[in-house]
Amino acid sequence: MAEPPAGRPLRDATRAVHAGLPAAADGRPFLPGPTFAAPFHLSGDPANSDYVYGRYGNPTWTAYEQAIGALEGGEAVVFASGQAAVAAVMMPLLRPGDVLVVPSDGYFTVRKLANEHLGERGVEVREVPTPGPGWREAIEGATLVWLETPSNPGLDVCDVAGLCQAVHAAGGLVAVDNTLATPLGQLPLTLGADYSMAADTKAMSGHSDLLMGHVAVRDPARAEALRSFRTLTGALAGPFEAWLAHRSLATLAVRLERQCETAGALARALAERPDVEAVRYPGLPSDPAHALASRQMSRFGPVLTFTLAGRERAERFLAACELIAEATSFGGVHSTAERRARWGSDAVPEGLIRLSVGCEDADDLLTDVARALDEAVG
Ligand SMILES: Cc1ncc(COP(=O)(O)O)c(C=O)c1O
Repeated sequence: MAEPPAGRPLRDATRAVHAGLPAAADGRPFLPGPTFAAPFHLSGDPANSDYVYGRYGNPTWTAYEQAIGALEGGEAVVFASGQAAVAAVMMPLLRPGDVLVVPSDGYFTVRKLANEHLGERGVEVREVPTPGPGWREAIEGATLVWLETPSNPGLDVCDVAGLCQAVHAAGGLVAVDNTLATPLGQLPLTLGADYSMAADTKAMSGHSDLLMGHVAVRDPARAEALRSFRTLTGALAGPFEAWLAHRSLATLAVRLERQCETAGALARALAERPDVEAVRYPGLPSDPAHALASRQMSRFGPVLTFTLAGRERAERFLAACELIAEATSFGGVHSTAERRARWGSDAVPEGLIRLSVGCEDADDLLTDVARALDEAVG
């Protein structure tokens, strides 16, 4: 990787393009292609070989993990999905009698995993809303405090550095689900977290064509424990997906720049409309999360939410959009939206739309949304 110009660190776009690439060598590609292997040639003592069997390690994972590690400021371990990454932090750490604190307004399958698999086996699961003072009491005696900031779909924010200090003082560990922000928007390990996790399915890979997840840590023993859990449970990323994710990471900063700028413009336009209620975007100066988000985040992410007057109006809006596909998930180059209450798993109004802003032209998107809102009036 190139040296930074004297006296200052490399900027995000440069770091994303170069992350995890091998040193330049004549006749070699910039990013080596995926290595497809179950067993690797292995003679004699396995300790003498970097790669022995595909469940233990793969050079395509290694390259992607080095790339993510460089952006996160830690050591990264890659998993088959975001959910596999969540499980790899929670499952080996928590024993009967331990306390796990999770956000009540975060991604619902994280809560479901906590309650159905850990709660059922004697772990005490406490749920706390992301904004507000509920954490102070809930972290007492906690083994692991799971934060998701901004939360999905609430888009609320909590004070990661302050909570890390309080949890550590009380003897617990902190994990942050950083999926919405990505490490180019927020650095949980720098803010003091023990684990920074993300669903790379979303903005990290950004093309809506794969599932993947990672966990980054600073403590080598924790990295080893995560790798061991992956090896023993087999929650593996395929080499082709890991290669695609690495290839896509190169444009993360460029994508986010466009997405966040358009998300801000859309949020402002939506907030002006009398037929739209409760626009949430941490980058919107009037948003309740804005002040804290501005201190903690360098970019506000591609996702915003707003509320229309009821289910039918929201469904008419989605049907009228021509450039925004109705789909779950977020962070991709294609704009997507959904009526979040259709899942029945989040405490959100029937008319709440979660919109993920893609890389289309901003004016085209603003025009499409304005027209679809007009049509939705019915
Ligand atoms: C905040 C958050 N964390 C974790 C996940 C799980 O990721 P995956 O779907 O890749 O398992 C999601 C998925 O939507 C998410 O939004």
